[in-house]
Amino acid sequence: MFKKKKGLILSLTVASSILFAAGCSDDASGTKSDSGKKGDLPAVGATIYKFDDNFMSYVRRAMETAAEGKVNLMLNDSQNDQAKQIEQVDTLIAKGAKSLAINLVDPKAAQTIVDKAKAKDITVIFFNKEPDQSVLDGYEKAYYVGTNSAESGVIQGELVAKAWEANKAKWDKNGDGKIQYVLLKGEPGHPDAEARTKWVIETVKEKGIEVDELAMDTGMWDAMKATEKMDAWLAKYNEEIEFVITNNDGMALGAIASLEKAGYFAGDKFMPVVGVDAIPEALDMIEKGKMVGTVLNDAKNQGAATIELATNAANNMDVLEGTKWKLDDNKAVRVPYVEITKENIQVGKDAY
Ligand code: GAL
Ligand code: CA
Repeated sequence: MFKKKKGLILSLTVASSILFAAGCSDDASGTKSDSGKKGDLPAVGATIYKFDDNFMSYVRRAMETAAEGKVNLMLNDSQNDQAKQIEQVDTLIAKGAKSLAINLVDPKAAQTIVDKAKAKDITVIFFNKEPDQSVLDGYEKAYYVGTNSAESGVIQGELVAKAWEANKAKWDKNGDGKIQYVLLKGEPGHPDAEARTKWVIETVKEKGIEVDELAMDTGMWDAMKATEKMDAWLAKYNEEIEFVITNNDGMALGAIASLEKAGYFAGDKFMPVVGVDAIPEALDMIEKGKMVGTVLNDAKNQGAATIELATNAANNMDVLEGTKWKLDDNKAVRVPYVEITKENIQVGKDAY
């Protein structure tokens, strides 16, 4: 237990030094190439697990921006279908991709993709969905760009604890001192969903606050699914619910839509809701007082780092050459998470 915490603190320190370094060399990738036609540029093959994912649409935009003038980015929508993604990878390799940037549909499919890349001796940068360490260790030219998933849970837990302590006179509706919460989880098996769900609650408890889980279920990162779940939970528990914890902002927005239908956020009927990502729509909710806070998942830097590493690989250079990024012991670039509330909302706005 203690060991785990120590590791986390260590990686947070590493994360903050990356953040610091980031501030110092902002124009590392700024200069535009005038080599003109896409055909002159080395090809990078990329897949996004599904374009229809709120957060990933921002990562995608960042990738396109970073690729401009540097590589011919061949970007595919895998439509949440792992078999389709494997076919796309075959096609990308056949079309001459010099490196791959892969956002897996199913993290368990990483080995299949590595086998294909290895056969052609090309580099694979996995991003956003972390593959098993053994897969990265098994191929010299495989890397990961993402975050430390647990860190987002810890930061969200600190946010929940702080807000609860400041407001419990009003928020502890049944006056038992405990938080009766419902939790909307991301995709089961997704490293971010698993770690956020675990660490948010562990952290709240470590702060000495007792909790009661009324309900927990997956909303698959999706606003509409979250609204359906929240509708059902409100019908069942209504006044008993004291906190809505979600693994991402998309589901937080879905929960808020349900809460609004049930009369919350009007008069003095209020419900604390927290998320992760800091997408612009969630920042808007924080400003309107309908969300307590979120955790910035830095789409811009994750997208840029993915393309910068893939570009270096496509040019037969060391993946880190000329970038501000560092690899940890697990061959991963981990972009730090940041707590976002009304007080530092600008940090979130600047990141998107
Ligand atoms: C997470 C993000 C979610 C969702 C997911 C997709 O990092 O917080 O909103 O986009 O990635 O893999
Ligand atoms: Ca209570």
